[in-house]
Amino acid sequence: MARVLLGVSGGIAAYKALELVRLATKAGHAVRAIQTPTSQRFVGAASFAALTGAPVLTDEFERDAARGAYPGDAPPEHDPISHLELVHNADVFVIAPASVNTLAKLAHGLADNLLTSAALAATGPVIVAPAMNNHMWEHAATRANLQTLRQRGVIVIEPGTGELASKGEYGAGRLAEPPEILAAIEAAIVPPGPKPLDGLKLLVTAGGTREPIDSVRYIGNRSSGRMGFALAEVAADLGAEVTVIAANVGLDRDPRVSYLDVSTAEELRSACLTHFSLTDVVLMAAAVVDFRPGAPADTKLKKQTGQDSMRLELGLTPDILSELAGTKKPGQTVVGFAAEHGDKALDYGREKLKRKKLDAIVVNDISRPDIGFDATHNEVTIVTADRETSVPRSAKQDVATAILGEVSRLRAEDVARA
Ligand code: C5P
Repeated sequence: MARVLLGVSGGIAAYKALELVRLATKAGHAVRAIQTPTSQRFVGAASFAALTGAPVLTDEFERDAARGAYPGDAPPEHDPISHLELVHNADVFVIAPASVNTLAKLAHGLADNLLTSAALAATGPVIVAPAMNNHMWEHAATRANLQTLRQRGVIVIEPGTGELASKGEYGAGRLAEPPEILAAIEAAIVPPGPKPLDGLKLLVTAGGTREPIDSVRYIGNRSSGRMGFALAEVAADLGAEVTVIAANVGLDRDPRVSYLDVSTAEELRSACLTHFSLTDVVLMAAAVVDFRPGAPADTKLKKQTGQDSMRLELGLTPDILSELAGTKKPGQTVVGFAAEHGDKALDYGREKLKRKKLDAIVVNDISRPDIGFDATHNEVTIVTADRETSVPRSAKQDVATAILGEVSRLRAEDVARA
């Protein structure tokens, strides 16, 4: 049971915060809600008060009838300062939905209402679950604010992609679903102490390589790096020491993780070979381009007058994963990823597991537009020599947790066998 302070800021998604309260209280947590004035234009305090069983505050100068106590706790004898007491007594402060305005205030340390003042006074874990229009979400100011918050250790629950509040709008910005937010709350309140991946050195490759045709053009792919970055973040949560080799990834970075940027397959290979001997687990999530131009031009190739076609001579890139797996020492675990089209995806994955001598391969079917490449969600099957684990469509963070769980299982079995 945890004491959860829920901050609700303005946005149509405020109605989903009611469901979050319902789930959290059902799971045995004591919840207190505070609202920004704007959020009350969407959902009134009475709804949160009814579901939490406690007064809901909006203003720093409002008296808290429960004196900062959470449901189930006895209030103190004195009348404390509400924003300090509520956050002081909380095990976790979750802001859901976090509007674009509230995120900006948090990033800049403003304290102009109860919610933002409480955030500044928070000393425990702070989680934000943003929800907004997709253009606001993608705006450079929002990106920068999130980066600032992440660097300060704030946990960001990425919004989903789908239909948005305004009619006909579609894109990233939908508040994460309440069960996902509750899972993040519960993960954040894990008591300090040993973590499952403490001491483990993990190498993750992420993104997609670019193989130059000339000085400005390249052969590349649509990989965003989200799966690799999610693996790195979750592994860091679990205590691992993580290095990411990022091939052309434009996503926000986790301050707990070391990043090395590369562009081509050859650069990726060289970085992998440098780090491999110091690594316990390699997760090869990068989409390495298979074919590259034999002799890229140093300058921009020019179209000739009357030219109607062009031939490119392509050679194969080195198979980095096979090379690593071929030299791995006892105690090292090598995991590949297979992005395949259609029904035969799993068969191809099984074949690659054997051919590339891997410990596990994570197979996903990229013929589906809602998962895999450049999507926030994924649905995979983790194939090892002795079993196959299906992970239903979930946020890439949850898929990452499942993959790391399987890696831990494999390693524990190895130790037991040795
Ligand atoms: O053979 P395929 O490209 O489908 O294998 C996918 C797996 O192999 C991925 O883990 C990818 O990172 C890795 N790979 C590699 N070097 C290549 C091609 C793929 O390491 N040249």
